[in-house]
Amino acid sequence: MSSKLSTVFAGISMKSPVMSASGTFGFGLEYSDFVPLQALGAVVVKGTTLAPRAGNTGHRIAETPSGMLNSVGLENPGVDEVIKHILPQLVPYETPVIVNISASTVEEYGLLANKLSRAPIAALEINISCPNVKQGGMVFGVEEESAAAVVASVKQNTDKPIITKLSPNVTDIASMARAVEQAGTDAISLINTLQGMVIDIHSWRPVLGNVMGGLSGPAVKPVAVRMVYQVAQAVSVPIIGMGGITTADDAVEFFLAGASAVAVGTANFANPRAILDITQGLEDYLSMKGLDHVSQLVGQVKL
Ligand SMILES: Cc1cc2nc3c(=O)[nH]c(=O)nc-3n(C[C@H](O)[C@H](O)[C@H](O)COP(=O)(O)O)c2cc1C
Repeated sequence: MSSKLSTVFAGISMKSPVMSASGTFGFGLEYSDFVPLQALGAVVVKGTTLAPRAGNTGHRIAETPSGMLNSVGLENPGVDEVIKHILPQLVPYETPVIVNISASTVEEYGLLANKLSRAPIAALEINISCPNVKQGGMVFGVEEESAAAVVASVKQNTDKPIITKLSPNVTDIASMARAVEQAGTDAISLINTLQGMVIDIHSWRPVLGNVMGGLSGPAVKPVAVRMVYQVAQAVSVPIIGMGGITTADDAVEFFLAGASAVAVGTANFANPRAILDITQGLEDYLSMKGLDHVSQLVGQVKL
């Protein structure tokens, strides 16, 4: 891989700015037969919670035009198992590992961060889009105060860089970004999935067992690019852009909008080597444009 792609993101040295999106690449190990994990900018692992979770029952996936809905429900073996048995297996790949964490209370986020603070990982990504049980089903990621409280709690419990992943299910993404920046996040990633619903017209029932799910894939890309652009105008912390990236051209749009790194999610399901293809395509694009480094694209959209 050429030095054109080497990136320091929030203090983390990466061979390239192209990484996996949480929940779409397992813990990385599941893909290691198809993808040399050392070629990734970082492996962002499945959403991890304090206790093991079986996830939602019934249908969890529905294909939609240019995308998919999922309601996996954070199936994972729990943080202790992740620390003991999974993370050590990723160490030999010498690729930064970012653990995506989810919890139901502010305190639980802090506890998770504390448990992971001595693990062999590069950073934590805080998923603030999961239900906040204590506050009556509200979602952390749609309220500035609760989002900031989560970030502060994680910050108090770790010295690792913190990336806060924003939910697109808000009216003012820039205010959310400013709130988590003020609370001390080192970086922001966006977008998580957009809430959606599909109904079976024969049974008249929702297709997903959980009734609603999260929309991802190419269908969400223009929304994601718009939000990355708005957040880049609002904050000075670096941004990981994602949402529908399937090709290198898609990734370039995110860099131009203001992202310093990108993550690939849904595309991995159709093409397990999507991250590699996008990385190579990005290098080719830079050569075609006569550019020395990917950073020369960041925020360069011309208005
Ligand atoms: C099946 C599936 C599971 C996901 N699980 C998580 C998760 O555990 N934590 C998280 O922060 N985002 C999760 N996401 C969201 C993705 O990381 C990403 O933000 C979103 O899908 C948009 O990117 P994409 O269009 O490239 O997939 C999941 C997405 C999918 C499709």
